Amino acid sequence: MDEEAHAGKLIADLATALEGLSLEEPGARDYVARLLVALRAAALSCNPRRPEGLAAPAEWQRFLAARGGGPGAAMLESLRALSPSLTWLRADHFYPEPENAYFAERLWGAMLVGQDDALFLAEERYIALLMILFPHTTYPLHAHRIEELYFVLSGEAEWTHDGESWSLLPPGSAFHNHSYQPHAIRAGAEPMVAVGLYLPPFGWENELLTQGTGGTAA
Ligand SMILES: [Fe+2]
Repeated sequence: MDEEAHAGKLIADLATALEGLSLEEPGARDYVARLLVALRAAALSCNPRRPEGLAAPAEWQRFLAARGGGPGAAMLESLRALSPSLTWLRADHFYPEPENAYFAERLWGAMLVGQDDALFLAEERYIALLMILFPHTTYPLHAHRIEELYFVLSGEAEWTHDGESWSLLPPGSAFHNHSYQPHAIRAGAEPMVAVGLYLPPFGWENELLTQGTGGTAA
């Protein structure tokens, strides 16, 4: 299979997994319905201008070693095939302050599908951003203008909207954020690998709401 075929399979598997979710919150259900239309309607093409970025973190191959089955396993296989072409960005690009270094150096992303900085283009219909959060790392409370749905591929991270009640979301779960709804993620002993999905109009307008070491008790 070529890269486009691997990416197409990844998005098709993602759509099937999203369709199988049972989400209680009406806003989350509506967002998934709109995502499904975009994921299935857009034609994927390889970006002729390969995005620039960092090489994968040294731990990436180890992080990719998926455990067990579940809907995320096939997607991790596709990611493994796409890995040589992925270019990465580390969160200290957005959070350069020394007090944020602990989490910002342990939060990495790779644009899979989206605009000019992505490996694949999808007619500006959606963005799919691969995200990894290293073990024992907390991405503190933050909020952004763009609505967001994370689909968890591996790891045993906890997620919160209010910073007080945390939910453990196993692989195959989704976490939805309304526009400007605060949220935070903390990874346990396993790295957290997820795909973030976004619909137009694009643009994060992101703001960190709490700062600190970003570390969790090991
Ligand atoms: Fe977010």
